[in-house]
Amino acid sequence: MSGFSCERFTVFCDGLSLVPIAEAEGTPLYIYSADLIRDRYREIDEAFGSYPHAVHYALKANSTLGILRILHGLGSAVDANSGGEIEVALRAGFSPQDIVFTGVGKSNEEIERAVALGVKTINVESSGELDRINAVAEAQGTRARVALRINPDIDSGSHSHISTGLSAHKFGIPVDQVRILCRTMSVRKGLILVGIHVHVGSQIVTLEPVRRATEVLVRLATELCDCGINIEHLDLGGGLGISYDGSLVPSPLDYVSTLLAVVRPSGLNIIVEPGRSVVAPAGALLARVVDVKEQGSGKRFVVLNAGMSELMRPALYGAYHRIYVLGNNRNADTVCDVVGPLCETSDVLGTDRLLPAVSVGDLVVVLDVGAYGSAMSSNYNRHPLPTEVLVDDKTWRVIRRRQTVDDMLACEV
Ligand code: LLP
Repeated sequence: MSGFSCERFTVFCDGLSLVPIAEAEGTPLYIYSADLIRDRYREIDEAFGSYPHAVHYALKANSTLGILRILHGLGSAVDANSGGEIEVALRAGFSPQDIVFTGVGKSNEEIERAVALGVKTINVESSGELDRINAVAEAQGTRARVALRINPDIDSGSHSHISTGLSAHKFGIPVDQVRILCRTMSVRKGLILVGIHVHVGSQIVTLEPVRRATEVLVRLATELCDCGINIEHLDLGGGLGISYDGSLVPSPLDYVSTLLAVVRPSGLNIIVEPGRSVVAPAGALLARVVDVKEQGSGKRFVVLNAGMSELMRPALYGAYHRIYVLGNNRNADTVCDVVGPLCETSDVLGTDRLLPAVSVGDLVVVLDVGAYGSAMSSNYNRHPLPTEVLVDDKTWRVIRRRQTVDDMLACEV
């Protein structure tokens, strides 16, 4: 079985014990299972069967080159959210035709680069952006392929920080405006309308909002078709959640079946942009205990050498990640907060966790951090970005070395 497994107080990644890897490379350390990334990608891709589709992995979840090369090898395409992500995708071997470019607030430089490259589609976030893309394309004497991102005013049911589908959110264009914009396409000589796009949020664990958003998109595509405007694809975004705590969540097959049930009668190509569901369970963070302390309140703290600078999700969204102490066979009978070393009270990785009595030097693993873990890490308190290791084919190798102080200061003058 691929991924992380626990046996006799040791955690393994694709069958390799994490302990010698932490000893060789030091901590904090991100470690990934190549096989689980492959399995998760294939599960989504194969769920479409023979229905015409393209999986555009969302780079924002994790764009370390070593991981992108695995996905490239599987035939994945990508969803880039910035000029930086476009350049990283090109370096990982993706071609411009593999890239959809999404994101609120694309700069003129980013638009110029995407149009010059001839990316597969630019997902457009506003009428002003549509004008700017048209102007850039006309100036370059070319036509940019665009899709309009709708804001369907649908609640994804996810955490408010990562919900994007309500009219109160900054994302997308109201459906009425999209209708009007579509009719102006024939006079925009720099544009080809190839699709419509929706993404209502991330870590979605009930499929009803996804079904409703898909219905809105299909209905709009049918209306456009009736007016003689034919598009190539529906881009249904990403958002499928994973189980962080062992509770039951929809599978990739449930998710894709929901999409297909709505889209199939239209016959339109589907694009999906999964990030988390592909890589989250395939990554873990290893850290060491640097202190154990009990405060006057009676609260016990286990202080690690990794915190919100390495993994921001608990501090930012109150996110839950399973945490285990390695090589410790004592009963889990102590309630503690697992915290980082940074000067912030919110620098927490887990609150009120039942752990065995831990000692300084113990190794701790935080699970399901392959998405939005390393990708959101920072140099806060001048923490160097951690080493990243990939386990593949029964062996492991460093895919990103630990940042040094010189690396950190390289841009400072
Ligand atoms: N497509 C678009 C347009 C998106 O905005 C996103 C995520 C995705 C695809 C990928 O969604 P996924 O399949 O990964 O759910 N930092 C947060 C998540 C932010 C997601 C932003 N957009 C977290 O750690 O939970």
